[in-house]
Amino acid sequence: MSSSSWSVRQASIALIEITYLERAVAHVLAGWLPKFPEMAVKLALGRQQYEMLDRATQLRSRLSGLLRAEALELPIKGGWRELVKHLDASPDPGALFAGLYGFLWPRLLELVRRYLASADPVGDQPSLRLVTGLADEVEAQLSYGQTALHAMPPSTKFTAFLERLAALWSARDSGADLAPADWLWSPLDRVPLAARPAGLEHCKRGSLGLLAVDSIREARDVGIFLHSDLDEEFTTLELMARNSYEHPDMPWQFHVDMARQVSDEARHAQLMLQLLEARGFHYGDFPISTGTYDGLYQFEPCPPGSRKELLWRMLIRQTFMEGLALDSLARDIKRRTEAGHHDIARALDYILRDEVFHAGSGLRWSAYLLDGDRRAVLQERYESLTFYTTAAEAWRASFVETHVEEAMAELIMIEEGKRRRGGKLPERPLNRLGRQQAGFNDDDILQVLSWGYATEP
Ligand SMILES: [Fe+2]
Ligand SMILES: [Fe+2]
Repeated sequence: MSSSSWSVRQASIALIEITYLERAVAHVLAGWLPKFPEMAVKLALGRQQYEMLDRATQLRSRLSGLLRAEALELPIKGGWRELVKHLDASPDPGALFAGLYGFLWPRLLELVRRYLASADPVGDQPSLRLVTGLADEVEAQLSYGQTALHAMPPSTKFTAFLERLAALWSARDSGADLAPADWLWSPLDRVPLAARPAGLEHCKRGSLGLLAVDSIREARDVGIFLHSDLDEEFTTLELMARNSYEHPDMPWQFHVDMARQVSDEARHAQLMLQLLEARGFHYGDFPISTGTYDGLYQFEPCPPGSRKELLWRMLIRQTFMEGLALDSLARDIKRRTEAGHHDIARALDYILRDEVFHAGSGLRWSAYLLDGDRRAVLQERYESLTFYTTAAEAWRASFVETHVEEAMAELIMIEEGKRRRGGKLPERPLNRLGRQQAGFNDDDILQVLSWGYATEP
């Protein structure tokens, strides 16, 4: 054992700094995801914010192990929060990339390397194992970020922003002690619309979106099926990210669950992009929609940024829509397999597994916000959905009034689809087992059946 190795105290202080950076930067990325216009950036950073939070979670648990004998909470200085909060206040995505990958992450890597060089190789072996695993991932993130940064046009407009970041880095050990409950900060903004690349055609609000007459046999309609799904992956990624960012006072595990879903949705989007591209289509070949983000971000009856707003987002997106996805995915996997679309069936099957977690997470955290009262969950789901569908009907009515011909064309498409299915409406048989695995109880299942969105198989 080297006599120059760190003491427990020194190791704990070094570990908390790494933990803090991982946690706080994950928070920044969660807030920024809907604001990046580039889809590839959303996907890469959507995965990275989960990696960061996951690492912070492991480090935090090791840290509490190290501090146990003294039963103390090691504080970090307020200067660290000022530093990362400044990153959050980046004027635009370019500045954020420059601040994160050009400045902060190289310094995180230095902290990590210093840890590996200084920790007691025997006494602190558990931390070393963790930090060694972490080093590779931080390096991979850094190399992604620096490649992206170098591809951006050089800019001098961030100079003042970066100078301030450097000054805050130097002053990071100043300020008052921060307890873990005060590590994060209140949201700096509201983001009611999800950003998309310029020049893409958007589906009109109140239209029926992309309609396919036969998404099994018509090549173009298969493309439309995949493309519409892609919109849902992107928007859910963005909404869950904001759920985390806008509610820093929720428990740690809530953020882990939201971050995991963000990362899952990023993988789903990647799967869909691969399937689309294998068929010669690309994102933006068809009109896109951000409705699932924009339409679920805020609701008139909920004060902006309130827990009620968070509850409604989760109830509608996760426990209602992703609940229905459990049903439709099971149906579509079967259909695609029968039609010989094995690549699509395989992707949907992976997505279905994740969806059980997403709906389950929505159920758990909705119940948490309602003090565990599952009857109240049913009631709030009813109220939020009634509000949402009433709003959707109003958008529809105004679309039909102002776009008569387009609305007629939609009806013709629907009729044609029905004719191809032999006059039948598309059915969605309830996936009872999947729903039970997600944590839906008999009342939840009865509710969706009684509304007619799914049918008893
Ligand atoms: Fe998904
Ligand atoms: Fe999902």
